[in-house]
Amino acid sequence: MLVPGASSQALAAALAAELGESLAAVEYDRFPDGETLAAVPGFDADAATIVASTASNDAYVELLQLQDAVREAGASEVTTVIPYMGYARQDKAFEAGHPISARAVARAVSTTTDRVVLVNPHEDAVSEFFDVPVDIVDAAGRLAEPLPALDDPLFLSPDSGAIGIAETVRDAYGEGETDYFEKVRHSGTDVEITPSDADFEGRDVVITDDIIATGSTMSEAVAVLTDGGAKRVFCATVHPLLARNARTKLARAGIERVVGTDTIERDVSEVSVAPVLADELER
Ligand code: R5P
Repeated sequence: MLVPGASSQALAAALAAELGESLAAVEYDRFPDGETLAAVPGFDADAATIVASTASNDAYVELLQLQDAVREAGASEVTTVIPYMGYARQDKAFEAGHPISARAVARAVSTTTDRVVLVNPHEDAVSEFFDVPVDIVDAAGRLAEPLPALDDPLFLSPDSGAIGIAETVRDAYGEGETDYFEKVRHSGTDVEITPSDADFEGRDVVITDDIIATGSTMSEAVAVLTDGGAKRVFCATVHPLLARNARTKLARAGIERVVGTDTIERDVSEVSVAPVLADELER
């Protein structure tokens, strides 16, 4: 039985349809003091697959509650699918006295599950923080599907670390060149982007990244391209977090369109990762 977290309801339904499994009747509530309550009244299955992105602190607590609730209701096998893993970028103690937050949340999630499935975590190494087996799926190829016909396309990543995503989207699209920018991050919202050597004047460019969070990285990259004469600039991201004023930043930079998946359910979530997850869960 598929058990959806509050912020992954559409994806869980799509995944249930892909797998031909039923969807648990989940209830989400909040007490007057702000505490959350996620429950599965009537849950009656031996195996549960919880699907819950953790883009907020509440989502993490709800995930722990759902894990506990299905165990309490008798599930002997629990799989936890985290389409977007929050805190994954805090994978080091960046300063003395800082926590390794990704490890802290991974340990908590591990206590009540037999297995974890992650979709394009920020770094694959985050899987080592869990105390149970972890499988990682790459859904970047899904981002090619909603793209329109492109003129002499160039697929760019904002830094060398994300070039694999650009290559995966290009391969799925079927044609085009790939390259990457040089990126220096000065703070959480201040990012400096240096153009690549690729000639982008008059061409359609797709900038690909794992996450658009504040939009600082993407908007800087878009501005470099639009100022330099690119024809149209698209952004394709697995996780369209789009926090704070990210949309405004992208619009002001001259973006043509943002394409994302449903690991985080937003209006730009044009394509589902359900088929990729179904393949992994059916293996
Ligand atoms: C960083 O290495 C990631 O791949 C993304 O580029 C980054 O998380 C995006 O964050 P923001 O949208 O806040 O610039």
